[in-house]
Amino acid sequence: MSTLLDVENLWVRFPTRNGVFDAVRGISFTLGRERLGIVGESGSGKSMTGRSILRLIRAPGVVEADHISLEGQDLLQLSEKEMREVRGKRISMVMQDPKFSLNPVMTIGDQIMEAYRLHSKASKSEAYAKSIEMLEAVSIRDPERVMRAYPHEMSGGMGQRIMIAMMLIPNPEILIADEPTSALDVSVQRQVLDIMDKLVRERGMGLIFISHDLNLVADFCDRVLIMYAGRVVEVCEADKLHEAKHPYTRGLLNSLPRLDAPRDHLEVLQRDPAWSEAPSVSGRS
Ligand SMILES: Nc1ncnc2c1ncn2[C@@H]1O[C@H](COP(=O)(O)OP(=O)(O)O)[C@@H](O)[C@H]1O
Ligand SMILES: [Mg+2]
Repeated sequence: MSTLLDVENLWVRFPTRNGVFDAVRGISFTLGRERLGIVGESGSGKSMTGRSILRLIRAPGVVEADHISLEGQDLLQLSEKEMREVRGKRISMVMQDPKFSLNPVMTIGDQIMEAYRLHSKASKSEAYAKSIEMLEAVSIRDPERVMRAYPHEMSGGMGQRIMIAMMLIPNPEILIADEPTSALDVSVQRQVLDIMDKLVRERGMGLIFISHDLNLVADFCDRVLIMYAGRVVEVCEADKLHEAKHPYTRGLLNSLPRLDAPRDHLEVLQRDPAWSEAPSVSGRS
């Protein structure tokens, strides 16, 4: 499988009053033209991993790695100007909270068209047509009205779908989707997953799908990295996730409600300090 992204020994550090806090601790993985899931409980370093690929960690946070290579080119060596060319065009990211990513004083239509025209020489009418097409693709009804609306007029789920449409218009090689469907109801969630799936299958896009929902990831992804305390504790084929061996992964699976085997109470995850001390498992394929 051709490698799109190669991340080696990634650390994300935050200086604090009590010393340096390592949010991501030396993880390595590759991404091909596949759906790679990253799962783990809240605070395990999933979002920081996604953001560090695009060098979007805010100061005083620091990203360090042996390399973060996009088709052989180390992103850490690029200037900020060169990095802006990568963001949105070659690698797009749908952030966990879309409300903060949309400009409140610009109509949805102007924002989508601006995002598109930033990276292509399309005319205004082409950009408009493409925007309508993408809004329809993410199941937005009445896209003409949505184009004229402002972000505050949208529900959370609509905001999330608009962000996804916006991120996909420039046809990126890699999409990093951080909990992209968590605000959506089940039927819309399925539609959004289908769109991303189609882009992976038909255009060979690489997808990093961040989620805390193990069942969803087992169902949707090809391969899964399981993160705990900034490290990758286990890597497995998504369809083998339910056979995972690491006690943390087993614990996450056992603490999920299951429709086929309802229980009176859900197990509480017992943590072992050894999990966070063990070296990261490699997610290279
Ligand atoms: N600005 C910051 N300063 C210190 N720690 C931070 C900062 N931002 C995030 N963190 C910490 O980094 C860790 C990983 O966060 P994150 O990647 O957002 O987790 P996840 O997405 O898996 O829930 C968390 O423990 C969080 O508290
Ligand atoms: Mg997160």
